[in-house]
Amino acid sequence: MKVISTPAAIQRIAQEFRKQGLTIGLVPTMGWFHEGHLSLMRKAKEKTDRVITTLFVNPMQFGPSEDLDNYPHDLERDCKLAEDCGVDILFAPEKSSMYSDGFASAVHVEGLTDTLCGASRPGHFDGVTTVLAKLFNQTLPHIAIFGEKDFQQLAVIRRMVKDLDFPIEILGHPIVREASGLAMSSRNTYLKDNEMEAALSLSASISQAKEFAKEKKSAADIIVAVTKKITKHKECSIDYIEIVNGINLKSCAKIDSKSQILLAVKINNRIRLIDNSQLLEN
Ligand code: PAJ
Repeated sequence: MKVISTPAAIQRIAQEFRKQGLTIGLVPTMGWFHEGHLSLMRKAKEKTDRVITTLFVNPMQFGPSEDLDNYPHDLERDCKLAEDCGVDILFAPEKSSMYSDGFASAVHVEGLTDTLCGASRPGHFDGVTTVLAKLFNQTLPHIAIFGEKDFQQLAVIRRMVKDLDFPIEILGHPIVREASGLAMSSRNTYLKDNEMEAALSLSASISQAKEFAKEKKSAADIIVAVTKKITKHKECSIDYIEIVNGINLKSCAKIDSKSQILLAVKINNRIRLIDNSQLLEN
């Protein structure tokens, strides 16, 4: 596996792959790899001839009081894990090469970014779509793979790619969980032992919500039950609990096959965790 650090170098490599008729699979990340990231890399390896994983903790998508400076990182560890998954190129640019002096452009997706994480993290999705537009132009992928863990992010990316005619197929990948049910996340590393039970209430309450959906309870009743189960833990403060249509992310009162429950919860006001699930299995 090669490690590349400048946009010009990765673009040359991507152009060369394309000249040779090789297909490129892209897995964008912010590093500190776990099985969730690695499963995306393995999927890219199955589907394309060359896999490029990008590792960039993108300052543009972090708010001023968020965890940019503490975001966990270990390039050597991540290189080894990516290489073991068959990644061909790890692109890990410096901040200065991604956002040069005078950088003044942004990609904004309207509507889908107003609610859920967009409401509590103003500007976050502009940071995500802007960096992805750059990474797409730098790595020239045929396919790009994203996790459903970041459900709203995936919806926003699909919208951007469609609206701006990026010639890229976007694939979603199911959430990878710990045996305990906790959705894997780089941020789980911040959790102390005594916070684990509170963190597990996200996935546990989603399981309960799915049972209630089968029993044909209303969205409002399900949200009340989930809120109760989570706030039983004094460490938890709710950012949002919503049931939405999984395509347009609009609130839905009646549960149907497209209904998706999405949660964002802060643990001890330090660690913001998200989770989601379709409520009725197809
Ligand atoms: P990051 O949080 O590092 O996640 C990188 C990719 O891994 C995303 O597509 C995310 O949805 C996926 N992922 C994370 N945890 C997962 C899990 N438990 N199961 C399945 N997939 C999981 O998301 C970002 O980085 C950034 O916003 C990025 C897209 C790289 C733009 O900067």
